[in-house]
Amino acid sequence: MALDRSNPNDLSAFWMPFTANRQFKQNPRMFVAAEGMFYKTADGRDVLDGTAGLWCCNAGHKRPRIVEAIQAQAAELDYAPAFQMGHPKAFELATRLRDLAPEPFDHVFFTNSGSESVETALKIAIAYQRAIGQGTRTRLIGRERGYHGVNFGGVSVGGIVNNRKYFGALLTGVDHLPHTHLPDQNAFTRGQPEHGAYLAEDLERIVALHGPETVAAVIVEPMAGSTGVLMPPKGYLEKLREICTKHGILLIFDEVITGFGRLGSSFAAEHFGVMPDMITTAKGLTNGVIPMGAVLATGAIHDAFMQGPEHMIELFHGYTYSGNPIASAAGLATLETYREEGLFQRAADMAGYWEDGLHSLADCPHVIDIRNMGLIGAVELEPIAGEPTKRAFQAFLDCYEKGVLIRTTGDIIAMSPPLIIEKAHIDQLFGTLRDVLMHLD
Ligand SMILES: Cc1ncc(COP(=O)(O)O)c(C=O)c1O
Repeated sequence: MALDRSNPNDLSAFWMPFTANRQFKQNPRMFVAAEGMFYKTADGRDVLDGTAGLWCCNAGHKRPRIVEAIQAQAAELDYAPAFQMGHPKAFELATRLRDLAPEPFDHVFFTNSGSESVETALKIAIAYQRAIGQGTRTRLIGRERGYHGVNFGGVSVGGIVNNRKYFGALLTGVDHLPHTHLPDQNAFTRGQPEHGAYLAEDLERIVALHGPETVAAVIVEPMAGSTGVLMPPKGYLEKLREICTKHGILLIFDEVITGFGRLGSSFAAEHFGVMPDMITTAKGLTNGVIPMGAVLATGAIHDAFMQGPEHMIELFHGYTYSGNPIASAAGLATLETYREEGLFQRAADMAGYWEDGLHSLADCPHVIDIRNMGLIGAVELEPIAGEPTKRAFQAFLDCYEKGVLIRTTGDIIAMSPPLIIEKAHIDQLFGTLRDVLMHLD
């Protein structure tokens, strides 16, 4: 008898990531199809995608160009070795990415995820410092509440307590800037908050503590997504750039969420007018359809490695699937879809309607902050005393029952829809959320 894929009869084998497994398996939430702005559930309901999957399906679902590109590539060249061999589509995608990225980013190193992009960028930073005769620069600086994936380097520079505390001592030689969440001063800000640029000056203190000659790189999300959507205060990123340049420290922007149109431009670096030395990406690179990430590096960084005998490998790093043919085909089709449909501009054009809709929730019970930028927004709820996260998670469950997908982190509701969203979808999203918030305990 054919397997009924909409109704698996045993949920026990799959140990689900970042999921309350026991709770989920008592009452599973299954998607079995998706198209455009909507998922289809196993019980036949349409669910509006208010989160672009996990901040990644920026062009929406089942996009014909991407589907066809993957099918054709699988039938033509399924895999080619990533080391000492090449195939045309990886080179083509790297060139397209270079064209899309702000000017200094001339080179692209492919990975398979945001986490791997972060590890790659941190390793390149340390190896670069050594290549230019600054081998004492091995320290890395991240930020409290930062999310840089789940591998050891990323968790070490990251600042989300639950992602760190169960996993031992992590990397040594890591320090953290203070986070930028200042609800007392910045609550209900539209766009960049006024207060907090001074927090970047803490970098001077950390650098002085260790000595600038020991610091390789600073990594931050230009807009912190996974911790609950924190915008950079006005002047903050500029200050970080200034201090890094002054001390010969590389600045890495983790743009795994902000890349590919989320803020209404290709990358947040462009949006904020602040250029880091490397950008990490993933997610929207292939519209979330096939795992792929990339690190964008400046010519200066790349060229520092191009020394020594030409038969020698310059960077001892890479993955079996770096630049995988099917992922490359998906990436090319995704970038073409973004271009053809002007989706980054569309995000910018929709941002005002999105902002007004989101902030109209300010009068709902338990709401203590709302913040937004581009097509991203967060509603922070007052936690239930002694039961943090419970209230927001209940909102997630209720929204799902009412046909809308949102995301929660702690007591913060985060939303980041596909950039193809229409005004009617925005109305549905915030209308449903209002209804749910009005009835929450
Ligand atoms: C800023 C940032 N960096 C890294 C990652 C990790 O990406 P992945 O889950 O693809 O490893 C994420 C994922 O949400 C992210 O938001």
